[in-house]
Amino acid sequence: MRIVLIAAQSLDGFITKHAEPGTAFTSPEDKAYFRAVLAGFDVGLFGGETYRVSRDVIRAQPPGHQLRLVMTRSPERYAADAIPGALEFTDAAPAALAADLRARGFQRCALLGGSHVHSLFFEAGLVDEVWLTVEPVLFGGGTPLLARRADLRLELQTSEKLGAHALLLKYRVP
Ligand SMILES: NC(=O)c1ccc[n+]([C@@H]2O[C@H](COP(=O)([O-])OP(=O)(O)OC[C@H]3O[C@@H](n4cnc5c(N)ncnc54)[C@H](OP(=O)(O)O)[C@@H]3O)[C@@H](O)[C@H]2O)c1
Repeated sequence: MRIVLIAAQSLDGFITKHAEPGTAFTSPEDKAYFRAVLAGFDVGLFGGETYRVSRDVIRAQPPGHQLRLVMTRSPERYAADAIPGALEFTDAAPAALAADLRARGFQRCALLGGSHVHSLFFEAGLVDEVWLTVEPVLFGGGTPLLARRADLRLELQTSEKLGAHALLLKYRVP
């Protein structure tokens, strides 16, 4: 199973504008690309905080289309939201979680943030690719792409413009 981290960030590396939750800062072109690209994945994986911030959007997706999986230390808190096979909550570590998805036959997992989940999967060596939209904004502060220090060198596969001013960069993690 391939795991692709998909995120949008400011030119200076932040996935949120200051303390504002969500991704209102991204361009219409990125929003359209993001919606379209997700259709190519059979799992979307989120952190608990991203779920709390975007709960309505994440829940709005029609069941059966894709498994949405939320990493939380307290899955029992979300029992009322859970829909087996469509919206699940787990406290499994990344390696066990990925093994379980593989065993269930899933093939393409989109790792959809936020920074803590990004770090957990990089630390477990489980990220195969990074598809990063770089928006032409500078925030000077916010949630960084990674929650914790890392020292990784990726390989650029493709780069393209998204609209007039954003860039879509696709990297392979060797
Ligand atoms: N620009 C973008 O592309 C983009 C993408 C995604 C998100 N975002 C933004 O990023 C922000 C959220 O990022 P974040 O880094 O604060 O949070 P996050 O990574 O979305 O979620 C953190 C949560 O993950 C759970 N978690 C952490 N470690 C865990 C572990 N070992 N096992 C199980 N669960 C674990 C915990 O949930 P519990 O507290 O439930 O235990 C923790 O509070 C939001 O504002 C969101 O809108 C931006």
